This record gives sequence, C-alpha cells and structure tokens, in this order.
Amino acid sequence: MDEVWKKSSWRIKKKHQMPDYEDKDQLNKVVNSLCSLPPLVFAGEVRNLKNDLAKVESGKAFLLQGGDCAESFEEFSADLIRDTFKVLLKMAVVLTFGGKKPVVKIGRMAGQFAKPRSSDFEIINGQKLPSYRGDIINDISPTVKDRIPNPERMLKAYTQSSASLNLLRAFSQGGFADISRVHSWVLESTKGEDGYKKFFELATKITNALEFMSAAGVNSNNSDSLSKVDFYTSHEALLLEYEEALCREDSTTGLPVAGSGHMIWIGDRTRQIDGAHVEFCKGVQNPIGLKCGPSLDPDELVHLCQILNPKNEPGRLTLITRFGSDKIAEHLPKIIKAVNNAKLRTVWCCDPMHGNTIKSSNGFKTRPFSKILDEVKSFFKIHMNEGTFPGGVHVEMTGKDVTECTGGIKLINDNDLSSRYHTACDPRLNASQSLELAFLIAEELESLVNNS
Ligand code: PEP
Ligand code: CO
Repeated sequence: MDEVWKKSSWRIKKKHQMPDYEDKDQLNKVVNSLCSLPPLVFAGEVRNLKNDLAKVESGKAFLLQGGDCAESFEEFSADLIRDTFKVLLKMAVVLTFGGKKPVVKIGRMAGQFAKPRSSDFEIINGQKLPSYRGDIINDISPTVKDRIPNPERMLKAYTQSSASLNLLRAFSQGGFADISRVHSWVLESTKGEDGYKKFFELATKITNALEFMSAAGVNSNNSDSLSKVDFYTSHEALLLEYEEALCREDSTTGLPVAGSGHMIWIGDRTRQIDGAHVEFCKGVQNPIGLKCGPSLDPDELVHLCQILNPKNEPGRLTLITRFGSDKIAEHLPKIIKAVNNAKLRTVWCCDPMHGNTIKSSNGFKTRPFSKILDEVKSFFKIHMNEGTFPGGVHVEMTGKDVTECTGGIKLINDNDLSSRYHTACDPRLNASQSLELAFLIAEELESLVNNS
C-alpha cells in the first residue's frame, strides 16, 4: 500500500453513484451520531464468515446468498423478514442434501438499502425526476422534493438494520431454524402443485435421511448443528459516508472492520480500480464481494483481486459473476483462466439475476426464470470444464408470493406481472420460484458430487 489506509481514504478518490448532500452540517451531524452507535456486526462473526467462505473456496461448502434487491422502510415488518429467512433456510436444506456439503447462508438483508442506477434521472408520468437511489438515500415518491438526498435516512436505515439483525439472530439461534421444522416446510411446499411431484421425491429422501439420523440418536434435541444455523448479512457498500461511520477497530487484532454487515460487496458500476469504493473495501477485514459483469477485462480483474486481497487469503474475496445467460459462455472462461494463471484464491459465485433483466411485452422490468436457470447451468458447466469449484449462487428473492419474474412452475406470464408487482427496484424470485431454483441447483450439485 502506497499510503497508510484510513477509513476516510476513499474521500480523495473518484466517487461514483454517490449522492451529493446539500446540507453538509446535517450530514456531519448524522455521521457523528452513527460513529457513536454500536456496530451492527462484530469482528469475531466477520472472521467466522471468512473461515466459512474459505471452505467454499476449497470446495468443502456451498454459498447461498439471497434477499431483496432493495430493502424498504415502508415494507419493513417481522413477517417479511421471517418469510424471506424461511425460504432461504428451505433452499439451504435442499442444497445441502444435493451437494452433500454444508451451505453458508448470507442474506441480502439488514443493510441492503443503497442502489446504483443506470441513469441519474428517470421520467415518471412525463416528469423528469432525479433517480430513486434506495431508501437510505432518497424517497421513492415521484416528486422532486422527495428525491433530494437526505442524510437523516442513514439513521433510519441503521435502526431498521439493527432491528432486522436482532430478529434474524433470534430466528437462527432460538429454535425457529430447527431442521425438522424447516424440512416440514419443504415437504409442504412440494405437495399439491403438479410440477412439484419430481421435487417431492427429493424431499422424501431428505425425510428418510433425517429419520435415519434420529434412529441413530442424532436429532435437534441433542445436536446444535440440527437446531441452529449461522446466518450472515451482506449488502452493497455503496454509500461510503455510512460505511465509514460504522467502521470500527477490531479489539483483538487492531484492524478495521466494516460494522454495517458481515460481508460487503462492490457493485458492477463502482469497481473502478482508482475509485472510492475499491479504496474503502480494500482496507476493511470483512469478506468482500466483487460483482463481475461483461465490461470487466480479465487483466483488470486480476489487478482488482491483488488490490482487494493482497495476501491472497482464502475466503476474503468472492467474485460474483453476472453476465447474463447469453454472455456467460463468452466471458466466464476468460476470467477463470486469468484468475487461475495468477494463482489467485477466490470464491466463485453466480448471480443469475442482473444480466437477465428484460422489459416485458407490457412494460414491466422482469426476468424470465428459464434464463436465470440457464445462466446457473452454464456456470456449473464452465467451472466443471475449467476445473474450478462453482461455489455458490446470489439471488434476488423474497418470501412473498409476488409476480415479478416470469416462468417457474406456476408459469407466471407477462399478463400476470401487474397483479403483485411490489419491488422498489429489480424483479425478485417469489417463494415458489426460489425453492424451485434450489431444487434445480441441487440436481447440478448432485451430478458434480457423482462426477468427482
Ligand atoms: C445488485 O446486486 O442489486 C446490483 C445492482 O448488482 P450489479 O452491481 O451486479 O448490477
Ligand atoms: Co438488483
């Protein structure tokens, strides 16, 4: 490192996708308040996640990362958190069984509030407005006044994240995540629907395995690993005033840790080598995600990996590829080769959402389930060819029965989209599509196990 890194070093770098706050005094007051509040996550938890991701890197575990595109202040409720958590747990059980490996579970939750946008302005009902940038920055209501960035929103995002985390910690450790409960939810979801018949068989195999273990004396009453789960949080570290204010020194090592979430990631639009986001993320000890889209040059990626993970630590860096089902075959092999040639240690994770967004025939931003699945399948195939481990998936999903992505067993079509299209930003998989995707990925994992 040329100069000593400080949590404020990003301030002299080029900032992308960040708001320019009008009232600097108000901004400073908010930042000072955040600085005096407790961090949301603790260094020991962050280290545990890094160790878990190191297992993914070496092919001994699988990563499931999922949740909202953008969390919202208005939609915040315990039920919403519970439902999303429940679907993630169901998916994890199915993936654990298919892959015969533990699944590292990370929510896009308790902090996923800031959004990069492709344009600074948007036209709503004929009116040109500054773009909505996520509830931590401005308000989604379509008036110029509501779209002005307001620093006070950072305090609300902190409070909501802390309440969400409190509930998630209770759910993961307090009996709610007991494997027998989670499995009975999987079974329930696979009954009834015609298309689920095939998945019911896999769910029944899980029942048999659990019954066998119970007969052998291992059950959730006597085994913590069947009654509790480790659940981590993550978000895009976009709003650096907020990230800096929650950065803390780890009392054990004296090193800086982002206190806003266990893992933070750098978006595809903010990964400039000399930019502010790379500068902030390189200095904190947390596991870092890096979104890799079609515009990323393989040599540039190698350089980014060296900056973000100079000690080549396993579990530190997760490359989240998001090329689109029609572009993955062109781009992924190239970056895998570049990373392998440079002997860099990374987790490979597939985001099959962000490269597959289209406009429906009736004007909705949507994602076809078939394209999402195609990208995941190509991801597995390409890694198999290159001899690398397809470490995980990163999905935008919700526990609610929304109609935002087309396709899936319930065959949502363009005309169904308007009935429950609730997202504040990108289209999410609903509960049934998420579970269906998990079953299909479990099949990929099973064949990986059988071929190894
Ligand atoms: C996101 O994950 O919500 C996102 C904006 O992704 P990307 O940076 O890959 O476009
Ligand atoms: Co998104």
